[in-house]
Amino acid sequence: MKAAVVTGGGSGIGKRTVERLLEEGWTVWSLDVCDPIIAEPAEALSAGSRFRFHHCDVGDSDSVEAAFTAIKSVTRKIDALVCSAGVARVGLLEEISPDQVDLMMDVNLKGPWLSIRGALSLLRHGSSVSDPARVVIVGSIGGIRPKMGNGFYSATKAAVHALTGVLAVELASSGIVVNAVAPGTVDTPMMSSLLQGSTPPSYRSSGESPLGRIAQPDDIADVILFYLSDAAKYVNGTVLPVDGGTRAAFIKR
Ligand code: NAI
Repeated sequence: MKAAVVTGGGSGIGKRTVERLLEEGWTVWSLDVCDPIIAEPAEALSAGSRFRFHHCDVGDSDSVEAAFTAIKSVTRKIDALVCSAGVARVGLLEEISPDQVDLMMDVNLKGPWLSIRGALSLLRHGSSVSDPARVVIVGSIGGIRPKMGNGFYSATKAAVHALTGVLAVELASSGIVVNAVAPGTVDTPMMSSLLQGSTPPSYRSSGESPLGRIAQPDDIADVILFYLSDAAKYVNGTVLPVDGGTRAAFIKR
């Protein structure tokens, strides 16, 4: 039976990934700062002991260490780590505060770094270059094509894309591959709060893709599950846009 840790597994893309993995028979640990009742996917009941929730702030090294210590008390090996936890605070230079910038650095960039570090011995155990453990980081199309009003968030995502490449090379010989997905606009609570909240007028979502809709969490979870599948065991260090062609259309214009 395969096992995965999903950060930010309580909502949006992370939650859908947890649900899909449980449906496929994986054991899943969800690490999140949200209320565990909210975090619990419907499939968790039928999955029974295959679903565990740990309260964990991925931007805090003590919190991450405590979560992985708890996981290591029940298993020596995991097959995959999905880093989906993220926060978006948007606005031009003077519209976002230094505290908001710190939060995005901590959760979006330091979070994956701390999580991969915490998971390392679990990922290494029993993996090999021919059957590697998988790390998937949820980046953003903003990290490839930054836009006005989204500047610092995009910078954290560009940095996490760079980290993906660096760690892909560093960890390959340990039998761990590292890849990232870069979603466009996805219909999740994060996006709803950006669109409905007191967002500065300088922020505009990318909106509908050339496919005539925004993404659903399943569109992103599909690609994450591909990265975790046997079919992707030789894929390493990639950042795959999952944006319905939004970026391509931008380039064309
Ligand atoms: P969401 O807000 O629905 O889910 C994010 C989850 O991360 C929440 O459960 C939240 O509690 C958790 N989280 C936040 N801070 C945390 C912390 N310090 N420690 C642990 N967990 C924490 O958001 P969504 O849309 O599912 O986002 C998932 C990822 O996808 C994020 O990395 C986000 O930046 C990225 N993304 C989202 C896009 C969108 O349009 N929704 C577009 C591109 C990327």
